[in-house]
Amino acid sequence: MARITWKIENEDDVTLDVREGLTLMEAATDHDIPHIWGECGGCLSCATCHVFVDEKWFPLLDRIDDSEDTMLDMTDVERARTSRLSCQIKVTPELDGLVLHVPVPD
Ligand code: FES
Repeated sequence: MARITWKIENEDDVTLDVREGLTLMEAATDHDIPHIWGECGGCLSCATCHVFVDEKWFPLLDRIDDSEDTMLDMTDVERARTSRLSCQIKVTPELDGLVLHVPVPD
């Protein structure tokens, strides 16, 4: 398990204990976290699972591969330095305490 927090503009934070092996997108959609849709189910073809990883945590995650990098150019909210597609991040115990910021379209 890892405790993950999603911060959403103008809404309460959501903190969940997430089972190891789930992706952050799966955890978010299982709990109806707003603005994270995961429309393609995690096959890297929708970019609807976009999150901004908290600055402190971003360097601790695996590198972005070329496919994710390409899809990050297609997000609704413009990508930032700490953008990731949350379907590409599997939960491990090392992510306990991870904080994500949910992009909210205008
Ligand atoms: S769920 Fe479609 S790219 Fe992540």
